[in-house]
Amino acid sequence: VKRVRTRHLIEAKERGEKWAMLTSYDMYTAALFDEAGIPALLIGDSAANNVYGYETTLQISVEELVPLVAAVARSTQRALVIADLPFGSYETGPAQALETAVRFMKAGAHAVKLEGGRRMAEQIRALTNAGIPVMGHIGFTPQSEHAVGGYRVQGRDAQAAEVEADAHAVAEAGAFAVVLEMVTSSVAAEITKQIPIPTVGIGAGPDTDAQVLVWQDMAGLRRGRPQRFVKRYAEVADVLQDAAKAFADEVRAGEFPTKAHSFE
Ligand code: KIV
Ligand code: NA
Repeated sequence: VKRVRTRHLIEAKERGEKWAMLTSYDMYTAALFDEAGIPALLIGDSAANNVYGYETTLQISVEELVPLVAAVARSTQRALVIADLPFGSYETGPAQALETAVRFMKAGAHAVKLEGGRRMAEQIRALTNAGIPVMGHIGFTPQSEHAVGGYRVQGRDAQAAEVEADAHAVAEAGAFAVVLEMVTSSVAAEITKQIPIPTVGIGAGPDTDAQVLVWQDMAGLRRGRPQRFVKRYAEVADVLQDAAKAFADEVRAGEFPTKAHSFE
């Protein structure tokens, strides 16, 4: 099996082939998604809400994310494994970004992702120069939720030029791809035409080169009303909870274990 490289994703854009990215934080989902042919897996800082039970992504640390990156990297043969740099681990400058990115690369990542456009160009350049592929992340950036004033769509009206300037800055700084989060479909389509690297949309409409979803949202492990940009492809929460109930019912009824599960 040949490993997906960043250049394969850029070549896919040139051929007009769309692809899907999913988050993954553990060995089973990593192996399943890898075998399903998902070319890029992201260990997102969304592990904060989806693994560790935090309220926001701001709370997760490098120490908490590194072992998840290692688990995913060990459990894939083909997918490009991308580690998200958490809040507070790269903002002070290129040196801090490089130090953090190196920790993730040593844990087995093949690339890193960080939030911010023009304001992070120096960091992206420094990592790229050090041989670390970088995925950018612009539009709505959850780590800056409090500065932005909540979960808000980016790129409407006069703001379109800002998001486009961020996209160009990220591409020119050497990123191999860029996530566009909660950006209007028209701005995402325009950026996708203008820059040579793949755009990975989440809440950015149908015209980006790729799409990403958090796996627990995609598979219905997270319950409750999902955000507008999420589509649920399964109801894993129901499947898992039904299994737990069936197990407990059989134990209470004395139906499990049987002789077949026991040693004479
Ligand atoms: O942390 C994450 O899961 C992400 C994706 C949604 C792009 O940043
Ligand atoms: Na993230």
